[in-house]
Amino acid sequence: MQTGTDIAFAADLLRNGKLVVFPTETVYGLGANAFDPYAVAKVFSVKKRPTFDPLIVHISAFGQVEQLFQSPVDEQVYTLAKAFWPGPLTIVHHKKPEVPDLVTSGLPTVAVRMPAHPVAAELIRMAGVPVAAPSANLFGCLSPTSANHVKKQLNEPDYLLDGGQTIYGIESTVVSVESGGIRILRHGAISEESLAAHVTILTEEKAVKPGQLPSPGMLKSHYSPRKPLYIIKDSNFGKINEESGVIIKSAQSGGNFNGIKTISLSENGNLSEIAVNLFAALHQMEDDPEIKQIFIEPVAESGIGKAIMDRLRKASFNYL
Ligand code: TXA
Ligand code: MG
Repeated sequence: MQTGTDIAFAADLLRNGKLVVFPTETVYGLGANAFDPYAVAKVFSVKKRPTFDPLIVHISAFGQVEQLFQSPVDEQVYTLAKAFWPGPLTIVHHKKPEVPDLVTSGLPTVAVRMPAHPVAAELIRMAGVPVAAPSANLFGCLSPTSANHVKKQLNEPDYLLDGGQTIYGIESTVVSVESGGIRILRHGAISEESLAAHVTILTEEKAVKPGQLPSPGMLKSHYSPRKPLYIIKDSNFGKINEESGVIIKSAQSGGNFNGIKTISLSENGNLSEIAVNLFAALHQMEDDPEIKQIFIEPVAESGIGKAIMDRLRKASFNYL
């Protein structure tokens, strides 16, 4: 896969139906022209992603909202856009018929986000089309927060725009806008508390058919490293041995892991710093042949801590 920093070249590729990996402030995305179903189909196949899991469409200007959401657009969409765009918030709302069904997996809604990363913003602006992009990893595997993480998993895309390390390190918050409030479909870089300052958050269960998920992406297992991962608790603490890698919240939360490979995610337990370093630590331990299983310390579930724990539960789900 060709790698570089040529945004104009990458934008040309997108316009011509090619796939471009690009940095956003959350994680790297695998992009295609959202209005080109053939290009979008390649995204699913390169990622080995089931077509029932819809993609987020990325825009670079507020005016593009009307290309994607069917009018009348709920006022709450504008309230959220004003407060959080450009930024790591994805808004799900009813779609225009022109948005390809492949992008939305046949749903009547489309997910839209305006990224804040300057490279992403410039790429979308130059491409002149909305860009459908899931995270640039293989389905179910660790999310990429650097160009090297992408190269570990993908080589088929036509170009990789290298923008260094991402800023938040965790995916966008996904919300659906409904009458009378919004529903959080995926916790992410924007906390529930900050959303609640602007809109009503609906919390009661939505009626869905048995076996159906309110958001197709709400799978119990996701974001997994290719070796066992355990969230540290009293009952498994004793199982940590020389073949383990340990990820701790902060240098001070320590414990004594003498002789055991340990990565600390922050200086003093700051949740944003933990989020930034989380996937990189998991990638590092995944790549270390001497480590047979990974143990990770849980964090408090406030602010971005909710998104962090959501990722950890899903990443460790297969090893409970
Ligand atoms: O930060 C991010 O959101 C990154 C960057 C690249 O923007 N993208 C990302 O995309 O995480 P992906 O595909 O890995 O996750 C998108 C999530 C999935 O859980 C999907 O099911 C949900 O958004 N989603 C997309 N369209 C939806 C829709 N119409 N209704 C409900 N959920 C939707
Ligand atoms: Mg993903």
